[in-house]
Amino acid sequence: MYNTTIGTDIEKAKALLAAGELVAIPTETVYGLAANGFNEAAIAKIYAAKNRPQFNPLILHVANVEQAEKLVTEIPDACKRLMQSFSPGPITYLLPKSSLVPDLVTAGSSRVAIRIPNHPMALDLLSRLDFPLAAPSANPSGYVSPVSADHVMQGLHGKIPYILDGGSCSVGLESTIVGFENDTVVIHRLGGITAEQIRLVSGTEVRTALSHAAPTAPGQLKSHYATSKPLLIGDVEPLINAFEGKKIGLLMFEHSAGIAVEKEILLSPSGSLEESASGLFRAMRLLDQSDLDVIIAQRFPDTGIGRAINDRLERAAYRGD
Ligand code: TXA
Ligand code: MG
Repeated sequence: MYNTTIGTDIEKAKALLAAGELVAIPTETVYGLAANGFNEAAIAKIYAAKNRPQFNPLILHVANVEQAEKLVTEIPDACKRLMQSFSPGPITYLLPKSSLVPDLVTAGSSRVAIRIPNHPMALDLLSRLDFPLAAPSANPSGYVSPVSADHVMQGLHGKIPYILDGGSCSVGLESTIVGFENDTVVIHRLGGITAEQIRLVSGTEVRTALSHAAPTAPGQLKSHYATSKPLLIGDVEPLINAFEGKKIGLLMFEHSAGIAVEKEILLSPSGSLEESASGLFRAMRLLDQSDLDVIIAQRFPDTGIGRAINDRLERAAYRGD
């Protein structure tokens, strides 16, 4: 057990990481649970602290493209174009790994996931290190990802020594994950960079192949980002009627449902999908911690980052196995 503390001391974070300890770090997407990506004993601590299945590989975070180049054997031209436009930023590249990358990071795969996060504190820390940071989202496996230092504390207190506090995450959804296959960019997870944005600069065909099953496929298990209360997504009016007499929490885009319920959150009264994405996980946690029986979410416009919002809501709603 650790006495987990929250602070802004980058040198302290560096010293802990160099000593093989875990540190939660801010990024523009969600908080990450970081370890020295070259140290297998430190990486093993990530799986233990999160209670994460070992077949689910980890993203390596670096400060710049030069650091990334050492971790891979090849960067396709389409990837270089994406890097130029979107990195640092909320996008992760699956690339053939070099021998420097431990198998524990990739769960045995020949591809490694690489990301340059766009957060001043994360970049400052990464540029002081001579190793990459292996980091999944800093939540217990399966729960909603954290977008503040307090969220990390709620899920991981006692399990890690230090949380680097970089404020609220601006993007609020995890990075988009892309791979490269025969002149095609394949989107494996929807996230902070939209398919439309990728299409504009990749110069290739762009295909979406979201995966729901592990261990063979990248991406994530279908049931994920789950609140502990049941969450339903769809047409809100019939859903509300179906739960008559229950305490209902509503998660809406820009307009109120206009029906009296226990609690209602409008993610963006001005109609911005970006603002909605940025507030989504905080709102899901807030409703989950309120005295409610069920959470009902409307489906968002299926365009831009709205697709990633719907993806997260659907995964949170999924209760199968
Ligand atoms: O925005 C983000 O990507 C955040 C921040 C902290 O960078 N990280 C994040 O990590 O969301 P995580 O572990 O929660 O999700 C990463 C996903 C996992 O579903 C994993 O299966 C996939 O990336 N992944 C990682 N390495 C992979 C690889 N070598 N091949 C295929 N999928 C991989
Ligand atoms: Mg995660």
